[in-house]
Amino acid sequence: MLKSIRSNIDSMMARDPAARSRLEVVVCYPGFQAMILHRLSHALWRRGWRLVARWVSQIARMITGIEVHPAVIIGDDLFIDHGMGVVIGETSEIGDGVTLYQGVTLGGTAPSVDSHNQRNTKRHPTLEDGVIIGSGAQVLGPITVGRDARIGANAVVTKDVPAGATMVGIPARAVQPREPRKQDQSRFVAYGTPTGDLTDPMARAIDGLLDEVQTLRARVNSLEEQGQSGALDVEDGSAEQQQEGERPSERPLGKC
Ligand SMILES: CC(C)(COP(=O)(O)OP(=O)(O)OC[C@H]1O[C@@H](n2cnc3c(N)ncnc32)[C@H](O)[C@@H]1OP(=O)(O)O)[C@@H](O)C(=O)NCCC(=O)NCCS
Repeated sequence: MLKSIRSNIDSMMARDPAARSRLEVVVCYPGFQAMILHRLSHALWRRGWRLVARWVSQIARMITGIEVHPAVIIGDDLFIDHGMGVVIGETSEIGDGVTLYQGVTLGGTAPSVDSHNQRNTKRHPTLEDGVIIGSGAQVLGPITVGRDARIGANAVVTKDVPAGATMVGIPARAVQPREPRKQDQSRFVAYGTPTGDLTDPMARAIDGLLDEVQTLRARVNSLEEQGQSGALDVEDGSAEQQQEGERPSERPLGKC
């Protein structure tokens, strides 16, 4: 069990650029504290101590702002970041390496039968491994969110989501990310965004350099276009005005 708790802490550090030490995760992360208390409430639930289990889960909610029903089945390394306002309903199932942000609901949908008959039916979502759900998103009903899918902040999802899809809006629709996702989808990126990995300073430096190269390339292209249209001769650095006899120093500086 200690090994699994340690792995959970490490996975939280890997997914949150703000986490600087294991101790910080233990004392400051409600998502971690909620998972520890869920282990306890789930064990009590499975032993049939249902009321005590519910009570422990409510204590956890008071401390962390995260409400997880004791019956919920959770895989390894769930990370609930910030946590406040997260609600996870009774028949939800959560795979490995899932990430939820604050305000997420894994909820039941409107009843078509009376609430007594619903008691033993699946009413809440199943999240497969690696799913990321953005802040404030509502995932409702006995649907399945496929492996590595991403749900945008504040989306409302009421239908199955295919593996690897990105869903946004109300009702949620599939979108194509502006930047293609990495082939290796097992590599987590903070906030679910392809450029959101701020943990590695080397990666940030390379990102900055690539941006700079992009900007310079655009400027060179624009200068070349001006050169071709005769406004500026890029080859020898002389301007159109120079051909008309003006000194280079009198030439206005480049427009870009
Ligand atoms: C859904 C998400 C994962 C997509 O990230 P991405 O791959 O970088 O996607 P892009 O930014 O390329 O957006 C793709 C399209 O979806 C739209 N979009 C992205 N997120 C959206 C959202 N939450 N709601 C509505 N539309 C959204 C973009 O405007 C874009 O539309 P366009 O192509 O018409 O311009 C990300 O936007 C998101 O919501 N992450 C959750 C972050 C979060 O909860 N952070 C809280 C941290 S405390």
